[in-house]
Amino acid sequence: MVAEAAAAAERVVAELREACAASAARLNEVAAAMEAEMRAGLREEGGSKVKMIISYVDNLPTGNEEGVFYALDLGGTNFRVLRVHLAGKEKRVAKRESKEVSIPPHLMSGNASELFGFIASALAKYITSEEGHSSVFDDKQRELGFTFSFPVRQTSIASGTLIKWTKAFSIDDAVGEDVVAELQTAMEKQGVDMRVAALINDTVGTLAAGRYNDEDVVIGVILGTGSNAAYVEEASTIPKLEGELPKSGNMVINTEWGNFDSSCLPITEYDQALDEESLNPGEQIFEKLISGMYLGEIVRRVLLKIASQSSIFGNVSHTKLKTRFILRTPDISAMHHDDTPDLRIVAEKLADNLKIVDTSLVTRKMVVEICDIVTSRSARLAAAGIVGILRKIGRAVPGDKRQSVVAIDGGLFEHYAEFRKCLESTLVELLGEEASKSVAVKLTKDGSGLGAALIAAAQSQ
Ligand code: GLC
Repeated sequence: MVAEAAAAAERVVAELREACAASAARLNEVAAAMEAEMRAGLREEGGSKVKMIISYVDNLPTGNEEGVFYALDLGGTNFRVLRVHLAGKEKRVAKRESKEVSIPPHLMSGNASELFGFIASALAKYITSEEGHSSVFDDKQRELGFTFSFPVRQTSIASGTLIKWTKAFSIDDAVGEDVVAELQTAMEKQGVDMRVAALINDTVGTLAAGRYNDEDVVIGVILGTGSNAAYVEEASTIPKLEGELPKSGNMVINTEWGNFDSSCLPITEYDQALDEESLNPGEQIFEKLISGMYLGEIVRRVLLKIASQSSIFGNVSHTKLKTRFILRTPDISAMHHDDTPDLRIVAEKLADNLKIVDTSLVTRKMVVEICDIVTSRSARLAAAGIVGILRKIGRAVPGDKRQSVVAIDGGLFEHYAEFRKCLESTLVELLGEEASKSVAVKLTKDGSGLGAALIAAAQSQ
């Protein structure tokens, strides 16, 4: 009986291992498909699922930026308000203060004016608490960089309409609207006198913040709740770019790679079911395989299948295990990194989160393996995406001597050590020992907010 249960569970894991396998050959196909989709997306609007959004950022920070700037960073379950004092080449960021506010879940699926009203009111409170009555802005309008981390069709550096929501957001009446106009209206209602100088994506902010500290940064990646990348493109190679070419010759592109989809992706029955039951079925397929919002949920689905086919979790009621999103990525990270000899942390997580008690060591090892399979696939796919971008811009290819730095932000990369290790080793595997010496990845913490302030400074009148 026990042996039968173990065998049934092992079969589920073996099938998972097989379906998630991402060999180097497979990843090279993914990188090539990513590169091809990027080209198609640059050719014309709607040319690819990978939207390749023109950011209107044609200059990245130089270090000379000066002044006090605000930034708003909206994109996950929290949003942040920042105030940054930039003091030029020598002194750099002289002061940086921020406040994080969590967004009440009902506002993520309510209406636009409620969400923007909530944000503007938090901003108003922050300004009062930071500036008190004496303000350096007495005779000058404050300026703000707005990081809004969803796909937006930019119409200029400081305006853009929301194409669709992603991650856990779904507010119908905001789709198609100019998000800067919505914010501006909400700020006026709160009596906040501030000009939105730049509207950017978090990947663009991470790229800008990365570049501010390191001239070799050419790509910005987010591996957090969602996943996406931005990079510096040669403006003359963007057929859909209308009008005069920017003087710098460059244009930052927000790829929105989260929406990438291809027959070469290793997709399992769990991913399919997750997608079907998601807020945005059929969309953000790459993101659903990679990002922090989904990894724990994929693991939960595998555990539920095991529970339905075998008794290794004991005689448990499966109510918890049937609850969507009950297992979060930090939970699977904790289990994956458990180095106690008897996997005590795995036991605790299973008991606390899923009410699965009395597991055997073999069962707990199996759970760790599931976390490893799901997370390795994610990290390897993210690495393939990065390689696709590097190839698109002719970096780390034979003959290229330049150093290329990838600035990365997001909880998955920052806090999940096994994920990060796997991403880094996969880059070496795909690029080769030699070429990978010219590529470095660098954690760029809170880059999205700082980047918005830096870009606002560059746009400042
Ligand atoms: C989602 C959004 C994208 C953002 C990413 C990371 O993919 O669509 O705009 O950059 O999440 O936050």
